[in-house]
Amino acid sequence: MITPNTIEQIKNRLDIIDVVGEFVKLKKRGSNYLGNCPFHNEKTPSFTVSPAKELYKCFGCGKSGNTITFVMEHEKASYVDALKWLAARYNIEVEETQVSDQQKQQLQVADSLFAINNFAGKYFDDQLFNTEEGTKIALSYLKERGFREEIIKKFQVGYSPQQRDSLTKALLSNQFNRELLPRTGLVVVRNETDLQDNYRGRIIFPIHNNSGKIIGFGARVIGKAEKAPKYINTPENELYVKSKILYGSFFARMAIDKQDECLLVEGYTDVVSLHQAGIENVVASGGTSLTVDQLRLVKKYTNNLTIIYDGDSAGVKAALRGLDMALEEGLNVRLVLIPDNEDPDSYVNKVGKEAFQKFIKENKKDFIIFQLEVMLKDAGNDLNQKNTLVNHVAETISKINKAEDFTKQQEYIKQCAALLKIDEGGLISLVNKLKRDKIAKDEKKQSPSDNQYDDQSPPPAEEEINYLASQDEKHERNVLRVLLDYGLNPYQDNTTVAEYIFNEVKDFPFDNPQLESLISTYKIQYEAGQNPNTKTFLYHEDQTIRELVISITLFPYELSINWDKLYEGKKITTIDNSEEDVTMSVNYYKLKKLKKMFDQNQADMEKASIDDQMLLIRIHKELKDLERDIAKKLGTVILK
Ligand code: GTP
Ligand code: MN
Repeated sequence: MITPNTIEQIKNRLDIIDVVGEFVKLKKRGSNYLGNCPFHNEKTPSFTVSPAKELYKCFGCGKSGNTITFVMEHEKASYVDALKWLAARYNIEVEETQVSDQQKQQLQVADSLFAINNFAGKYFDDQLFNTEEGTKIALSYLKERGFREEIIKKFQVGYSPQQRDSLTKALLSNQFNRELLPRTGLVVVRNETDLQDNYRGRIIFPIHNNSGKIIGFGARVIGKAEKAPKYINTPENELYVKSKILYGSFFARMAIDKQDECLLVEGYTDVVSLHQAGIENVVASGGTSLTVDQLRLVKKYTNNLTIIYDGDSAGVKAALRGLDMALEEGLNVRLVLIPDNEDPDSYVNKVGKEAFQKFIKENKKDFIIFQLEVMLKDAGNDLNQKNTLVNHVAETISKINKAEDFTKQQEYIKQCAALLKIDEGGLISLVNKLKRDKIAKDEKKQSPSDNQYDDQSPPPAEEEINYLASQDEKHERNVLRVLLDYGLNPYQDNTTVAEYIFNEVKDFPFDNPQLESLISTYKIQYEAGQNPNTKTFLYHEDQTIRELVISITLFPYELSINWDKLYEGKKITTIDNSEEDVTMSVNYYKLKKLKKMFDQNQADMEKASIDDQMLLIRIHKELKDLERDIAKKLGTVILK
């Protein structure tokens, strides 16, 4: 048997788009990917992959699952073999319960790198706080810059002493594999065999992955960088893949999710200072242009990205370069420049949290407008350059192609035309032409039958619609969906979503026994402190549970066709805020159950004795009050 530890590692590392993409040509559709189903013959793509939910579903043949079941199906492999296949792909050592001691000793490369980094992180930490050199040179420097001990400790900032091989020696005497050390970047080879420390005399910023393990380091010189580069970073290796890293994401995830906004800065010190000031929804890119992978990372938590750079930063232009991609990913990107030669770090230290937040709020500019302003400044009076600029702007605007963003597009056209001092009508026709060109080009590439879907998700198959028809179950599933997705989140500051749901539905049991058993399983795990969520259930060993959870998490797409009718046009799917999603889902569920109770009550009334009728009338009145309460709650949510 493969150990839970190994399975955990595989799950943490795999990327469904990466794995499925190896076998299926995927195209982006909204937040999902679409391709031709590999499990049945089709010309029209109906195979959908959701990177956020880490699952796939074919609306043609109904096959669905997670990354592991995909490999099982596609490679005709067993569960264990699929895990091994994925482990090999991601360089993870497979630990089996019955392996020899010798095999156990052979830690795999990635694991060893983690272990080395972990050791080094602690070592640097110890050097910073517990040695004379560290406190005198490094800690004092950090304190002088305004960093307090608690934040230094939170981010595990450390110090690498000046001696040429102090870390190297410590690593070797702790039996770490000599051959592997240079791969981590912590150690360099001089004169072919001589190992020495790479970050000597530098402040160390460990870089964590999303589970908080160290995947690399940024090492800064103390004081001004004169001869040496200001930062030395970990070279690309099995753990450190620069294009997929946002510094600080481990510490920022919750805050980004909660505030539905991600702030992006350039530097390590910007992230740390903002955290210290209490602004925690912040990550750093390292000053290069953003990659699709980084944007996707952001998109997992929010659609709102606010880039904060210093005014004269060379990074601004670099960052702008990648941003058309962000539009296509459907992100709302805004930019703010920090004035007066300050960067976010120095600025927040100078003005404090409130003034900083106020400045960001008042000065963030939509990326398209921002870009136009930067380029206009560059173009000056050069007519040629201005023409190119008009085309460029039209091109950018034409990339906003979702129907719901139509108003946004119109607004851009208006503002850009004004800035460019050109006729609005002209810009509109240019944008429309570019859109038509793009559609024509896409159509050429695809088979003619493809065009029927310009919607985000393909139409559900007939069986899906049948199952949608059982509305009671739909509400039960919806409650489970929000429980699985958001159960661990806080709810209205004094409880969790899970506690809220348990409490709300305790008098309204589920009718479907499978769903009832799923919610009980969740409750048991939750109360045992096992932090259950969609993902843990997606990988549940019981196939029925896995499939149930998949169909539940796909619920929002399926529902979107019916919400309008059900709730008079009040679309739950357009509400981003998870708390509202939870409140609405729970209350619609209760409303539905109440309706049923009314019917039951009515039927009972007809057969009841006078005494019983009195009781039933009282119950009826209580139900009515409850209904009014719920309707009121839903009302406030909808009106907001
Ligand atoms: P402070 O000057 O201490 O505030 O550091 P900073 O992190 O704010 O640095 P800066 O604004 O100069 O640069 C922003 C980011 O770009 C840094 O955090 C690094 O990720 C990256 N960077 C800056 N200088 C270098 C360098 O010399 N080499 C490399 N590889 N990256 C650098
Ligand atoms: Mn700085």
